[in-house]
Amino acid sequence: MAYHSVIIGCGSYLPERVVENKELAATVDTSDEWIIERTGIHRRHIAADGETTCDLAHAAGLAALQNAGVRAEDLDLIVLATATPDHTFPATATQVQARLGMMKGAAFDVHAVCSGFIYALAVADNFLKAGQAKNALVIGAETFSRILDWKDRSTCVLFGDGAGAVLLQRQDGAADVGSPGVISTHLHSDGRYKDHLYVDGGPSSTQSTGYLRMAGREVFKHAVTNLASVVNEALESNNVSADQIDWVVPHQANQRILDATARKLKLDPARVISTVANHANTSAASVPLALSTAVGDGRIKRGQLLILEAMGGGFTWGSSLVRW
Ligand code: COA
Repeated sequence: MAYHSVIIGCGSYLPERVVENKELAATVDTSDEWIIERTGIHRRHIAADGETTCDLAHAAGLAALQNAGVRAEDLDLIVLATATPDHTFPATATQVQARLGMMKGAAFDVHAVCSGFIYALAVADNFLKAGQAKNALVIGAETFSRILDWKDRSTCVLFGDGAGAVLLQRQDGAADVGSPGVISTHLHSDGRYKDHLYVDGGPSSTQSTGYLRMAGREVFKHAVTNLASVVNEALESNNVSADQIDWVVPHQANQRILDATARKLKLDPARVISTVANHANTSAASVPLALSTAVGDGRIKRGQLLILEAMGGGFTWGSSLVRW
């Protein structure tokens, strides 16, 4: 029996505290104007003291369950993408599982930094297609504020905290570009580029958490090339042309990356969902957050064709073609 998976609901959560660019300019040598001009970011949400990735993931997961009309006890898979887990182990996904009261199936984390949600979606989609699960909660959740060097102006202004989730349900029959569902996923990584974007700590190397380090210009260059290539890969492998895409739901790193990628792909910028101004870069949370925002405000409608894409540390990158 062939199966495919359908996204039947989505949800998100943002910490209450909003930090405007001007507030950052009071503590590091930067300005509202510089941040807006170079990144498009105006503000970001920052988790409260003691508020963890699990808290954010749980709230987004609950919202997705409610939106889908599925009970936690009917879940049999949670795949949670994060680079900022509550603990080295156990996986944050298992803590979310316990809080939701899900007793069966499996819950685990996937780690691909800013591409994490696309990776998690691909993993869950493949589980469902293989008939190994029926209802999967796919979450992207991060508290990057905990791994930022707040004295480094070249990185601390770029990121925020948040979470987003989708409910993926198995349905009979193979995926088809004309019907709702996850039509394809394409993943890539190239470990040679580790030094362009990494955290200078970890349990096995320094026994500390460490801070995010980035060669911004290098990342920018690779991001536009890799994202355009993996979007093209999705279009070509499904015989879909760029003008058939209703919405691009990209990883929200920088407005200039969104614009440059759209230009390279000859995609209408009005068809690109952008939430970077209000959320900044929330890493694995950014794609499901952008998706939930645009579904919530009515831009994304059932039956429309979406391309999801992301790129992150590793490097990792990926795309998914979805009929909403
Ligand atoms: N405020 C003010 N000035 C800043 C600054 C800040 N927050 N951060 C850096 N600068 C300065 C630099 O020190 C540099 O000064 P100099 O010319 O005197 O040396 C100048 O601005 C230009 O820096 P540069 O790094 O060349 O700027 P840029 O145009 O490349 O923009 C980024 C920097 C980080 C915004 C940009 O490279 C970027 O967005 N890269 C991709 C990052 C990303 O998306 N990462 C995550 C991917 S998942």
